[in-house]
Amino acid sequence: MPHPSPSRLVVLVSGSGTNLQALLDACADPAYGAEVVAVGADRDGIEGLARAERAGIPHFVHRVKDFDQRSEWDHALAETVAEHRPDLVISAGFMKLLGPDFLARFGGRVLNTHPALSPSFPGMHGPAEALAHGVKVTGCTLFVVDEGVDTGPIVAQAAVEVLDDDDVETLHERIKVSERQLLVDTIGRMAREGFTIDNRKVRIG
Ligand code: GAR
Repeated sequence: MPHPSPSRLVVLVSGSGTNLQALLDACADPAYGAEVVAVGADRDGIEGLARAERAGIPHFVHRVKDFDQRSEWDHALAETVAEHRPDLVISAGFMKLLGPDFLARFGGRVLNTHPALSPSFPGMHGPAEALAHGVKVTGCTLFVVDEGVDTGPIVAQAAVEVLDDDDVETLHERIKVSERQLLVDTIGRMAREGFTIDNRKVRIG
């Protein structure tokens, strides 16, 4: 049965947007319980925005360099996202840290997907650092964004084996297959069942 009132998702992207596409595809089923109501980006000309355009989803761009202060960019981003009245904000390959204004507004309901098993390898180069460290297992983490870099309460994780002949690209692509599945499965459950955060422990349902 379709969910009575689908959760409203605003998805933030900076690149190819394959995680966004996985959410768009999942949301096509009314039983999924969520809908993407807008897509935001920090740069123009990316495939993530083209995916939103093709899906007929409202989209917007706020570039940091168009603002005098980083805090003004953060405020503008928060204002535009708020116009779309999201239940959840999903940072899906969004390569900017969200600032205090944004988190004050949406804190506790901003999710980020990261291509490593937190707390290992935070930041922009999770797959490269996992490979350089020689770990045999890495993976992906969906977490609730806090003011740190990939430090927020963990919602879900999936492990991915590192193969002997992996390079950064092959490893990241294999992680992304797991990541999209984890994102779709977990966001759907959060939308349908709700969630609580207690002392870093996130519980769905
Ligand atoms: C994903 O692997 C995501 O975890 C990563 O960028 C990729 C975006 O792929 N994000 C980070 O590394 C942020 N720290 P996509 O644009 O195809 O969804």
